[in-house]
Amino acid sequence: MAPVAEPHLFVVLGATGDLAQRKLLPALFQIHRRGEMPAGSAVLGAARKPMSDGEFQRLAQESLTHFGGEAAPGEADLWCTGSLRFQSLGAGGPSEYAALAARVAAVEKEFGLSGNRVFYLALPLEAFGPTIEALGQAGLSKGPGWTRLVIEKPFGRDLESAVDLNTLVHRHFDEGQVYRIDHYLGKETVQNLLVLRFANMFVNSLWGRNFVEHVQITVAESLGLEGRAGYYEQAGALRDMVQNHVTQVLSLIAMEPPSSFEADAIRSEKVKALQSIRPLRPSDVVFGQYGPGKVDGAPVIGYQQEPGVAKGSTTETYVALRMTVANWRWQGVPFLVRTGKRLPAKATQVVLTLRAPPVSLFPLPEDYALNPDRLILMLQPDEGVEIAFEIKVPGRSVRLQTQRMRFHYADVFGPLSDGYETLLVDVMLGDATLFVRADEVEASWRLYDPVLSDRPKVATYPAGSDGPVEADQLAEAAGCRWYEPRRSGGS
Ligand code: BG6
Repeated sequence: MAPVAEPHLFVVLGATGDLAQRKLLPALFQIHRRGEMPAGSAVLGAARKPMSDGEFQRLAQESLTHFGGEAAPGEADLWCTGSLRFQSLGAGGPSEYAALAARVAAVEKEFGLSGNRVFYLALPLEAFGPTIEALGQAGLSKGPGWTRLVIEKPFGRDLESAVDLNTLVHRHFDEGQVYRIDHYLGKETVQNLLVLRFANMFVNSLWGRNFVEHVQITVAESLGLEGRAGYYEQAGALRDMVQNHVTQVLSLIAMEPPSSFEADAIRSEKVKALQSIRPLRPSDVVFGQYGPGKVDGAPVIGYQQEPGVAKGSTTETYVALRMTVANWRWQGVPFLVRTGKRLPAKATQVVLTLRAPPVSLFPLPEDYALNPDRLILMLQPDEGVEIAFEIKVPGRSVRLQTQRMRFHYADVFGPLSDGYETLLVDVMLGDATLFVRADEVEASWRLYDPVLSDRPKVATYPAGSDGPVEADQLAEAAGCRWYEPRRSGGS
């Protein structure tokens, strides 16, 4: 039987913001619908704006209409009025946080709760420090029951700021109370990387330098800025995608088998894998920025023309990296990693290209190059696993052709849930396996700090293309070519 969480108060700081409205409240609602929200639990929204409980409930109802997924008529409204409350934080001073503490106690009394609390910081990076400090000062870091703190990405802007933020967090909270969230870890297919590797001997036996020629990770998006220039101009693709989402996928591929399925056993192996990565040299990094072009046949503007982008901005919207995981398993196997906005289609995939057979037995026509076998892990949107391999074309002469064996999640299980639902339930249960530990976030920043302080020149690529030609040259220098995802559209 699935474990059941204890009743609690789920406090969302930044409850009127985009993340809370688009992702968190809809995820909490779906958790409630599935019966996984412990009975009697409540949600307390908090934000600077003054707002009554009723106004917040109406705002949440509107969000659920747009983003809440399937529900019976009236179900969302009933949940909002029954379970949501709101507390204004005004200017965020000590008296406002004292009022928050009083409201937390009052809502717990109203719902008959015993003092288990989640504080979710759905806030911009610059608000994390002051909010954590204020929660601590208001006595909210410890409560009558358990208290858990969830911190969104980005956790810091570089190694130094991440270390400072960890120090501040640990002044008020024990590491065991802290859940640094990376929504990629909540994706079923990202978790499936562990199952694929450690529950299947045929996969496990291939996994490493003896059979793998190179590893590629692609996290492509066709979306552009989506009105987020204020944030993105300060972040860029390295901070927005690589330091967190892409590095999480990378560490799950590169890590050694953990001693158990416990949170710390897995997280320690991930940290070790990150620590084995050689420092990046300038020649290992390509930055790009999209210019005007066409996505899905429709013309789109370039990054420089996006509203809110500074004239002459050199913010990168594309990053390609060549990485070396210098451990016994992976030494000598290039890891090629890329992510970008305004690429032809949304696709996250990992491709392990296997070594060629040592001797070719078959007389091949001049125009046929033997394709290496590939293991293709499609993480989204067309989730599944494929194996590409050579077969003999029927007939008297020996002719080869590449074919694929496919498993698609959608064929067997239907649509997969958003990562947030999984992760929020894990917070409620106190399972930190899919969250990023303090040393892990620092190990990740340590990798990218040199790139941030010595930023490469930014190449341009037309929106809708596969990225800058410099990224192709990077792959060629590593002795390979990018393996393009199959295009199935989407964002
Ligand atoms: C977010 C980034 O963390 O992840 C966005 O800030 C990006 O820029 C998004 O679009 C991608 O997430 P997903 O789940 O759509 O791949």
